[in-house]
Amino acid sequence: MKIICKAIAVTAGVLLAARLGAQPALKDVFEKKFLVGAALNPTQFCESNSLEAGLVKRQFNTITPENVLKWEKVHPEPGLFDFALADRYVEFGEKNCMFIIGHTLVWHSQTPAWVFQDDQGKPATREVLLARMRDHILTVVGRYRGRIKGWDVVNEAVAEDGTLRQSPWLKIIGEDFLLKAYQFAHEADPEAELYYNDYSLENRAKRKGALTLIKKLQAQGVRIAAVGIQGHYNLEWPSASKLDATISAFAKLGVKVNITELDLDVLPHPGRNVAADVSLNYKSAAKLNPYRNGLPESAQQELTERYAKLFAIFLQHRNEISRVTFWGVTDGNSWLNDWPVAGRTSYPLVFDRAGQPKPAFAAITALVHE
Ligand code: GLA
Repeated sequence: MKIICKAIAVTAGVLLAARLGAQPALKDVFEKKFLVGAALNPTQFCESNSLEAGLVKRQFNTITPENVLKWEKVHPEPGLFDFALADRYVEFGEKNCMFIIGHTLVWHSQTPAWVFQDDQGKPATREVLLARMRDHILTVVGRYRGRIKGWDVVNEAVAEDGTLRQSPWLKIIGEDFLLKAYQFAHEADPEAELYYNDYSLENRAKRKGALTLIKKLQAQGVRIAAVGIQGHYNLEWPSASKLDATISAFAKLGVKVNITELDLDVLPHPGRNVAADVSLNYKSAAKLNPYRNGLPESAQQELTERYAKLFAIFLQHRNEISRVTFWGVTDGNSWLNDWPVAGRTSYPLVFDRAGQPKPAFAAITALVHE
């Protein structure tokens, strides 16, 4: 029995290697342009899903944790930090010589309610919240000092109209919560790159607000290494000109641009808001899940062309872009199967549910000739 299992394992390994070996690797194809990465879940970095772990090792040279470093996971209760999975994530990245990203320290979402409250459930004071923020950042960033190379320090602080988002951080601490977050992160690891990360920066008003914010932080002495453009896109939005203008506008401030959460939604959007607001949640309906039995050729073609156009823009800006990270590894584990409608069949990435490269993979790798 043992021998048979071993033989099966070896055969499966050889088949897998042959299959993977036949493909070029994104990290090699784009090596001289920018890093290419993916957001990982625990089945990938703990390697219980060996197919996807293998794919990640072969294809990517930078990784982001999809959830395990968010406040609710790593610091679920006052005084209680749980680093079990985050440690595994960082070990996986080190073992495979990857540029390891930390995501994310200060965000209004996936942060437990207690963070913003006192013992009676009333809003915490500015002093208490600042002390909590400092403790959180020093503990989490400090633990991985010198190992996690770049941090999304603040995520999504700007509203659609370009004003600062009315988050509990802003309401309780005031506008300098941003400055403080970057100061604490720098204190915890002076060598780490510090980023600002957001979605819909391609839209004029929001972009203007984020540009103002970055300039202000720079004037206050904060060294922002890069702005992360999340890149939760669909077939129409953003236009090539919007994306192009956005990358140029941030680069002019002397910061790098990272595409941090790239995916391309081909499913119908039920509401007006097409941005990546994670709190959206619409009721499911058959017409909202049109491709549950597979993606028709025409839609596959549209996705492929759209990916090729986006990567052509990224390549034009290769001197300004440090990294392009997909939000997920294969279509099967993308958050877009459950957002903004639960239980759909989504096709937003360049590897299909079996871990096979899609036509979009061939189209983007074909853009690089040297
Ligand atoms: C935002 C966050 C990510 C993730 C995505 C959706 O963009 O920055 O951490 O939650 O939404 O999964």
